[in-house]
Amino acid sequence: MAIQRGLRFPEGFLWGTASSAYQCEGGNTNNQWYQWEQQGHILTGEQCGDASNWWRAAEIDFELAEQMENNALRLSLEWSRIEPAEGQWDSAALDRYRAMLADLHRRRITPIVVLHHFTDPLWFAERGGFTNEANIRLFVRYVTHVVQALHDLCDFWMTLNEPNIYAILGYQLGSYPPGESNMLLAMHVLRNLLQAHVEAFHAICHLQPQAQIGYCLHYHLFDPASNDSLLDRAVAGLQDTFFNWAALHAGETGRFTFPIDMLLTPIARASGARDYHGINYYTREMVRFDPSLPAELFGRRFISPGAIRNDPGKEGFFGEIYPEGLYRVLKAVYQRTRGNKPLYVTENGFSDTLDDRRPRAILEHLAMVHRAINEGIPVRGYLYWTLADNFEWNEGWGVRFGLVEVDPATQRRIPRRSASMFGEICRANGITESIVERYAPEAADTIFGRADVAERGIAV
Ligand code: BGC
Repeated sequence: MAIQRGLRFPEGFLWGTASSAYQCEGGNTNNQWYQWEQQGHILTGEQCGDASNWWRAAEIDFELAEQMENNALRLSLEWSRIEPAEGQWDSAALDRYRAMLADLHRRRITPIVVLHHFTDPLWFAERGGFTNEANIRLFVRYVTHVVQALHDLCDFWMTLNEPNIYAILGYQLGSYPPGESNMLLAMHVLRNLLQAHVEAFHAICHLQPQAQIGYCLHYHLFDPASNDSLLDRAVAGLQDTFFNWAALHAGETGRFTFPIDMLLTPIARASGARDYHGINYYTREMVRFDPSLPAELFGRRFISPGAIRNDPGKEGFFGEIYPEGLYRVLKAVYQRTRGNKPLYVTENGFSDTLDDRRPRAILEHLAMVHRAINEGIPVRGYLYWTLADNFEWNEGWGVRFGLVEVDPATQRRIPRRSASMFGEICRANGITESIVERYAPEAADTIFGRADVAERGIAV
């Protein structure tokens, strides 16, 4: 019997992809992102339009997920369809979601349903959205309505996608709607979102005690430009704390760290209000001290020279492909939460139209997930962003994250090499030597490591 190198994942590990309603469904004209688009903010000048046509035919892509033997699929519900006007419910919209979820079950794919992924109904935005604490009850009422209607088809809920991105990009950096530049307001929005999660968590627990309920945060690494510079280390640490750890800490304990906690009311009933930690990770940036940038907390961010990169997009935001970052984030979340809940990688993806870096990037990131699991960190699933190309917020169709290529003009699907590779990984519940040989032979040593090969080898 030959011993081959391989990385096997635990039984029952969830393999799948993640997506969101606005980016995939098409025809969503009743939320603040549609309005933002009408105001001309999409950098490519495009319209979301039919997106990737999921409202009519998501099942075409679900079939591709089934062919890849995915056992999980994360999608989101569009609040503005389900409650198009305040207190008015559209049962036809819920029926369409029922059909999608039932279709996933038929394919033996576990649906992971996100209740809020960046979009707010216009009527909710007009009432001040999450800037106003009094509006939290409206979100909880929507969540309650949905869970009552769909609980027989879903028991894995995610209340919010990336409250830190929604708050910081929308209310501090102004690059997402409503385009505000007010750090204090951004902190209030983040606080209200975390409170909204807690309230929704308790409401769902009441209706469906056995459900898995959590939310995910976006983790972005900030490393000092020079480790020898105290100032670079200080400003990188400041950005790291502000962007990544303030939200996690507040979600866990109900309080922001000093001095932010002086300005915000604590989050009530936060302790224990989640069944898992959802982790979205994409990239890292280097940070150099720069006294001329108070709004950036005195840190100038840049992409590490010589790094392998994602396709940049117009904002140049999708920077370095840095696999070790995923391991570092998993470990940090595990340590900061004292291992109190399992972890899921709820998003990790690469913009790579030509698909010439993605296969290796997926393999190297998965090797880092495996490393974390080997060290006893309970990572239970990996969701690649995204199944089929979709409308990337401000970047429109300008960057492509899909395992499957989509031509938005014809809605034609062309699976990329990454799709067949991901299928092989899901089928094997791991990474085999043969997969690496065929998709990224140049990375075999970084994927399998050198010294501990024998220990991690699997008999075939
Ligand atoms: C968001 C997705 C987005 C992806 C790639 C994540 O932060 O949740 O909606 O498409 O990043 O930019």
